[in-house]
Amino acid sequence: MSKVFYKAFAVSLIIFLTVNLIFAQDREIVTSDSAMVVSAHPLASEIGLDVLQKGGNAVDAAIAVQFALSVVYPRAGNIGGGGFMVVRTDTANYALDFREKAPVLATSDMFLDGNGNVRPLSSTHGHLASGVPGTVDGMIRAYERFGSLPWEDLIQPAIDLAINGFPLTEREAQKLNQNVDQILRINTVKPDFLKQNYYQTGDTIRFDELGLTLTRILNNKRDGFYEGETARLIMEEMKRGGGIINRIDLENYQSVWRDPYSFWYKNYKVITMPPPSSGGVALHQLFQIMERYPIGEWGFHDPLTVHLMIEAERRVFADRAAYLGDPDFVDVPAEILVDSVYLDGRMENFDTLKATPSGLIYAGEMPEESTETTHFSIVDKWGNAVAVTTTLNGNYGSKVVVGGAGFFLNNEMDDFSVKVGEKNMFGLVGGSANVIEPEKRMLSSMTPTILEKDSSLYMVLGSPGGPTIITTVFQTILNVIEFEMNMQQAVEAGRFHHQWKPDQVYMEIEAFDDELVEQLRSMGHKFKMRREIGSVDAILIRDDGKLEGGADPRGDDTAKGY
Ligand code: DON
Repeated sequence: MSKVFYKAFAVSLIIFLTVNLIFAQDREIVTSDSAMVVSAHPLASEIGLDVLQKGGNAVDAAIAVQFALSVVYPRAGNIGGGGFMVVRTDTANYALDFREKAPVLATSDMFLDGNGNVRPLSSTHGHLASGVPGTVDGMIRAYERFGSLPWEDLIQPAIDLAINGFPLTEREAQKLNQNVDQILRINTVKPDFLKQNYYQTGDTIRFDELGLTLTRILNNKRDGFYEGETARLIMEEMKRGGGIINRIDLENYQSVWRDPYSFWYKNYKVITMPPPSSGGVALHQLFQIMERYPIGEWGFHDPLTVHLMIEAERRVFADRAAYLGDPDFVDVPAEILVDSVYLDGRMENFDTLKATPSGLIYAGEMPEESTETTHFSIVDKWGNAVAVTTTLNGNYGSKVVVGGAGFFLNNEMDDFSVKVGEKNMFGLVGGSANVIEPEKRMLSSMTPTILEKDSSLYMVLGSPGGPTIITTVFQTILNVIEFEMNMQQAVEAGRFHHQWKPDQVYMEIEAFDDELVEQLRSMGHKFKMRREIGSVDAILIRDDGKLEGGADPRGDDTAKGY
């Protein structure tokens, strides 16, 4: 063979290796022509896909996936928690807030002892930690507005899984094993699904009582949860465990349609969640800051790019702590926070060579807890898109299972400022805009997001991860738009996170090479390793019209399409 051939071959090989080493990718890219679901569990993705293939729209599929996740992914998928849904149709965009609320009997000092100190674990474990669940009302609201298939078709698949049982994945068996003791300790009635003390991959688990609760929701919709037997069981659970959620809370709970929070980054329109999520405003601030710098030219994980992103994150999270809360209770100065003159001021002390210290008052620690929220992204054959992030907050929420009803309650009260200036379980410092008040929603970082490019649907994404949700969504978008990765590569790429306090960069192990870490250290950045940050489920609409899934290998996340 000729020298020219060898040379051409060598050059192609080098290009191939360079691209694949920089943007290493574990999983095959999943593509489809018409529609797609990407969720945290293969069985939930399968159910969503079935609904789409039967002619259901993206919201129908989202409802079915949400109920399915409450069974197959009970540590985060839920009916005892809450979340946010962003919907894009051809004609309009929508944001549904089904975030939990503080009970009417909640008070700003309910987690403090007589000396004004936070009672350890009181806002994270047990009955007092739960906000009033919003998921069931949220799904019904979404159905009333957009549902096209019969309601039964969206909930029966979850009931079948609960009653017939399903095999545990390795990850879910492990999670149960890690939590079984604590769940048993916290609950006064042994949860009916816990038949073993130790689970192995492939063991079948059944959720009979949850199946009955879901059947009541199938038959009576809202009244199947907020009234009648399920409400009675929740009341009994509260009585046994010293919780404060009462009948008025359940009767009064309403999810809310809000105007989505939208902004532009270059020629991309970002459609995401307004307060009580901090995600929309924070993303807007981050992208506004990025727009001033040629980060695409600097390159992915170039020291200057990473330094800038960290410094932007530091400033944005300081604002989050001070200004954001439930807009039904506090004025959120969103317009000022994203004003370009204001952001000029915020970046005035940005030094391209040095980290700006966060001026630590104390160092909050972010626990090594894994991601216990869940996000799913759906696109249907008409091009409608739905992004849902839903949560119990911590791993299996408050760990309380409603006796006889078979579902976990959230521990979302910890997302409030339990005490102003104190850190919560994510190390986030609480400000006064987010103090506990009856019927107020706790501030969230959940950021379900949809992007348009030149007015067409372009990307659907979101993640779990507490505060790291915001930086994870931010980095995944930049990976595609600025660093030209495909969706799967963008999802798999290593992540980092700075949240102002504590003053350290959380970095996934091996996200950066040693040289980059050393360069950033010499600029003054401090690092703390984390096993994983976030778990993104995303869909990209390519120029050729195909849908490309990004399913995070950090979990059992699965893309399915047709
Ligand atoms: O709403 C929030 O911001 C949190 N409750 C989300 C919690 C979460 O993502 C847990 N995963 N680590």
